[in-house]
Amino acid sequence: MPDAFGRFPRITLAHLPTPLSEMKRLRAVLAAEGIAVPRLFIKRDDCTGLAGGGNKTRKLEFLIGEALAQGADTIVTTGALQSNHGRQTTAAAVATGLQPVLVLLDMVPYNGHAYRHSGNLLLDDVLGAEIRVVPQGSNPARFIKDVIDEIAEAGGKPFFVPTGGSNVTGSLGYAAAYIEISDALEAQGITNARIVHGSSSGGTQGGLIAGSALRGSGPAVHGINVYRADHAAMKADILKLGRATAEILGASKPGDDAVTLEEGFLGAGYGLPTDAMVEAVELVARSEGILLDPVYTGKAMAGFLALIRAGSFSPDETLVFLHTGGMPGLFAYEEEFTSSVIA
Ligand SMILES: Cc1ncc(COP(=O)(O)O)c(C=O)c1O
Repeated sequence: MPDAFGRFPRITLAHLPTPLSEMKRLRAVLAAEGIAVPRLFIKRDDCTGLAGGGNKTRKLEFLIGEALAQGADTIVTTGALQSNHGRQTTAAAVATGLQPVLVLLDMVPYNGHAYRHSGNLLLDDVLGAEIRVVPQGSNPARFIKDVIDEIAEAGGKPFFVPTGGSNVTGSLGYAAAYIEISDALEAQGITNARIVHGSSSGGTQGGLIAGSALRGSGPAVHGINVYRADHAAMKADILKLGRATAEILGASKPGDDAVTLEEGFLGAGYGLPTDAMVEAVELVARSEGILLDPVYTGKAMAGFLALIRAGSFSPDETLVFLHTGGMPGLFAYEEEFTSSVIA
């Protein structure tokens, strides 16, 4: 296949390809419940490197590439207080000699002490991000614009990366990831497969869908909504992004049914813990020795397990859980997991 990605500015940030490993122990635990369990794999995008890894690193290869091509000296991005995207963008900026500025929103009604002091927020600070928290009651878009204007007026060259790095440039990272995953499965003779992952700002799923359109064959893509109460609008936005990304890659247009997005695992809202999330995080930690996170991969795994237990997947299908990272979030939600071993 000709390199459809070659014409986009890109820098190397990620350790690629990330491992693709079989989860035999988790499968055995589920099989012991009397369920017909498909083969289970995990794609370790928590191992992309860059200050704790995660899915944003693949997107940032293209986003920072574009920023450098435009002569930027400052990267401005935004997200929740515990944004993994903010932490990885900060690290990517530092690693490429750019100034990181984070505009964070105190938007999750979670009152744990560590949520405001530890996890990604602590790491942002260690990495040297300039952190601005949007004051309660002010308009986030307006506030971000003011920060960008302020940098430009002081002689800086700001480059804005949207929430989650989810525009067409960032989504290129997951279009490329789709090719990586498909090629690895095919090399093992696996043709009937499905990638399951947590979906939020949509760049991961949009990119995977674009990658599927580009490659023309490969695994199905199955997102689990961990972000928005308005499920239908989220689905429509992912399709739009997937189509726009496919278009700049010169791929065929993803069809109207290209987005499979599962609902029912968000709980009370974005960033708010659920019992099923805690069960999923502990089950995978204790069966596979792999750490998920409370906001994205824990809820996505809760959905993955529920769908397997409900018999929603064919036992002939190989399932690939895409681990999109987020482990520092465990420390931010310590109240959900705190051990009672030491009083
Ligand atoms: C750990 C983790 N998993 C999944 C996602 C969702 O990816 P996307 O925003 O591309 O839908 C994010 C995004 O913030 C994340 O940090």
